[in-house]
Parts: sequence; C-alpha cells; structure tokens
Amino acid sequence: MSNERPLREIAHECGFKVGAAVDSDLLRNDVSYRDALRYEFNALTPENALKMGPLRPIRGTYDFADADAIVNFGRKHGMTIRGHTLVWHNQTPAWFQAWDYTDEQLRRFLRDHIHTVVGRYRSKIDTWDVVNEAVSDDGTMRETVWYDAMGERYIDRAFEWANEISPETDLYYNDYGADAVNKKSDAVYELMERLLDRGVPIDGVGFQLHALGDRPNPESVGENFRRFQDLGLDVQITEMDVAFPADDPPENPLEKQAEYYGDIVRTCLAVDCNMLITWGVNDAGSWVREFKDFASRYTVDPLLFDDHSNRKPAYRAVRDALRRVK
Ligand code: G3I
Repeated sequence: MSNERPLREIAHECGFKVGAAVDSDLLRNDVSYRDALRYEFNALTPENALKMGPLRPIRGTYDFADADAIVNFGRKHGMTIRGHTLVWHNQTPAWFQAWDYTDEQLRRFLRDHIHTVVGRYRSKIDTWDVVNEAVSDDGTMRETVWYDAMGERYIDRAFEWANEISPETDLYYNDYGADAVNKKSDAVYELMERLLDRGVPIDGVGFQLHALGDRPNPESVGENFRRFQDLGLDVQITEMDVAFPADDPPENPLEKQAEYYGDIVRTCLAVDCNMLITWGVNDAGSWVREFKDFASRYTVDPLLFDDHSNRKPAYRAVRDALRRVK
C-alpha cells in the first residue's frame, strides 16, 4: 500500500465516513481491491449481498455467506456498515416473482424477512436502507408489489418491523434522482413529512447521487439536504459515482470528475452530512460497466480508484476537500 496517509484517517479527523459498495467476489479474489478497501475507507455497503434475491435464491432458506463475508470484513477493519436494502422492487428472487400470494401472505412474508435479516445483523450493521426507491421519477408513489398489496403504509410497516427488532440501528429511506431540489426530491420530502406525521421510526434519508451524464448542482444539493435536516432527519450520500456522456465527454474528464467530487464533499461538510459512499471500490468493479447499455452511454471510470486500485485525481480531490476542514 501507499506510504501516504489513508483517506479514512483524514476523514476520521473531521468526523467523516468515506466508504464504498463492496462486491463479494471481488473482495474474495482481488487483493488490490481488498487492500484499497481496508486501507482507504472507514465505511462500506454490501453492493448486492443483502438484497432479497441474493439472500434468498431458494424459497424457505437464506444464504448469508456473501453478506457475512462483507459485514465481517468491515467489522474486522473498524468500518461503519450500511445495510442495503430490505424492501425494493428490484432483485427479488425468481421464485418470489412467480409466487401467487394474497396481500396478507405478502405482508407476513415481508415482516418475517425484515425481522430475520435485521435481527441477524443487529449488533453489526449501523444503518439500514429499509426502503429503496419507493418514489417514481415523476414524483408519484412507485406501484411496486409492496405498494399494490399494502398501499403506502408498506413503508410505515417496514420501518416499524426493523425498529422493533433493532431500535438502536439507524433506519433510512434511500433514493436516486432526488439529490438536488427538484420535482422528485419534493415528492420524497412530502413522503418524509407524511411518515413523520404518522410517527414512523425513520432516522434519515440516503441520497444516492449517481451523477451519470449530468451532475446535480452542489448548491442545490446542499439546499435540498438542509430541508430534510430541518425535518429532523439525517442525510447521507449513499451511492455516488460520476460519469460523463460517452459520446460527449469533457476535454479533461478525470479533472472534471475530481472537481465535482471535491465540490460535493465541500457541500457535505458545509451542511453537516458526514457520510459519502461511492458505489464501488474501483472502476473495474463499477456497475456502470455491466448495467444494461450504460457502458455505451457513459464513461466507465466513475470512482476514486482506477481499474488496478490506483488513486485517481478524484481521490485526491476528496482528500483535499476533507483536509481543508482542519
Ligand atoms: O450474481 C449473478 C451471477 O450469478 C450471474 O451469473 C450474473 C449474470 O446473470 O448475474 C449476477 O447478478 C447480477 C448482480 O448485479 C451481481 O453482479 C445481476 O444480474 C445484476 O442485475 C445486478 O446488478 C446490480 C443492480 O443494482 C441491480 O439492479 C448492480 O450490481 C448494483 O450495483 C446495482 O445497485 C443499485 C442499488 O442497489 C440501488 N441504487 C441503484 C444502484 C445501481 O443500479
């Protein structure tokens, strides 16, 4: 590893957590990936291992091996751990998608899922993304299997079920495209108001900040974060990456990328947001390279470390933004 001070040490000095989403195969098989994760980051999120599909490939059983490997690695290296995610409309198991359930069967299934998973990690996972992406891009409530069976109150129940098993864990709502003040973040804000009015035990909102193609204005991000904090909620950046249109990248993309990461870290520090998770450890493991046609639409080096876990200008920009806090 480098003889330079690790990013996590500089972050710690200003009470900040800088983390990465972790893939279990890369963690097992790639030494440079594992070393960079351990040495540079003080937080992590299992990228897929804690989702319903990967956890429950076979009806009636759980496969915790991948999630345990990531969570235990994080605990061993003193990292804050974000659990992702208990309730989502994506990555449900194939057998679940084929299941002809009644609304009551679904409600009971979801309660048991949340109790089981949150209970297993209650002393290890610090924060859960309890519900992920419940608001559609147009600001209406997304009509998912959960919404269809239980209405909006599926969100209330999910947070209550998680809270009754692990009251000491921070419980978050998580979404994309709501990072700045916009129609979607207005809808998320109104949803948070309704949940709080109904006494739902929610602690914070995760803003994914997938800056792919366009980059939410940092000032508007700060303004948006403040209004959620004014509701009494904490805010975290939970899935950040920065990519440009593949057919129209800027002249100096790595420097442009670095500038934006630095601007967002400065925004976080200005509005007391103390967590930034990048959605991957290094560029080689980025979801952008695998997801649908994204690799043809965007540049595919969106993170702080390159394919071989070498530090990029974006890494130095985050480090320098944190240093300026002292
Ligand atoms: O593990 C299987 C493997 O066994 C199989 O051979 C392979 C080919 O079918 O698929 C593998 O599963 C893939 C999984 O990633 C692990 O690599 C799934 O097909 C693929 O759909 C899944 O993509 C994940 C995506 O969520 C699913 O929507 C990405 O890795 C993950 O980075 C991405 O993360 C989401 C967050 O959870 C929520 N916010 C948006 C973010 C980006 O979409």
